[in-house]
Amino acid sequence: MTPILQLESARLQLRQWQDDDLAEFAAMCADPMVMRYFPAPLTRVESAALIGRIRGHFNEYGYGLWALERKDTGAFIGMTGLLNVSFDADFAPAVEIGWRLARRHWGLGFASEAAWTSLRCAFAQLGLEQVVSFTTQSNLASQKVMQAIGMQQDLAGSFEHPKLEPGHPLRPHVLYRIDRAQWQATLRG
Ligand SMILES: CC(C)(COP(=O)(O)OP(=O)(O)OC[C@H]1O[C@@H](n2cnc3c(N)ncnc32)[C@H](O)[C@@H]1OP(=O)(O)O)[C@@H](O)C(=O)NCCC(=O)NCCS
Repeated sequence: MTPILQLESARLQLRQWQDDDLAEFAAMCADPMVMRYFPAPLTRVESAALIGRIRGHFNEYGYGLWALERKDTGAFIGMTGLLNVSFDADFAPAVEIGWRLARRHWGLGFASEAAWTSLRCAFAQLGLEQVVSFTTQSNLASQKVMQAIGMQQDLAGSFEHPKLEPGHPLRPHVLYRIDRAQWQATLRG
């Protein structure tokens, strides 16, 4: 399959990773506020390794987490995209939609805009039947993005994240889903 390297929305390019994204990406992933729903902020080396894994996902599957660039300023602002669920779960195998933006770009609708664009790619280009998303229970900002793109919570699908140890406060997760028919219904408004 030809990899989908580039997508576009009104205000954003969803593009491939460039070597000079590392500085901004590492700064974002070192920000404790950005990472407060993850086990820990990332070191620069961990961020570099993550970009490597993201590039590997594109190479292997033809889609992944795209780097987000503002069209007006050319600034790198974060990432959004599609990735295969990487752990055993009742809902796996599945393709997940996810996002992470640098703090100064929050609250401007960029996450939802990039998420819509990624979701359209999932259904219209990749031909997927369903996309899932999940986050720790207290991450309401992320759940707002899920709701904004028409995803619905699967109340029976809440789960304990297997990569966090039992008792960890971030371990309880909520699950959201959207299938092709629901996505088409959101387009009809
Ligand atoms: C989640 C994240 C990408 C949202 O970015 P954003 O730029 O605020 O998103 P948007 O501007 O598109 O806003 C989406 C909705 O979330 C709402 N929102 C934003 N921050 C919120 C918060 N802290 N609590 C509740 N709702 C919030 C917005 O008001 C908006 O709702 P609306 O559509 O009803 O107006 C951003 O907060 C982030 O990068 N967080 C850290 C990384 C992370 O947690 N990623 C997800 C892991 S699963």
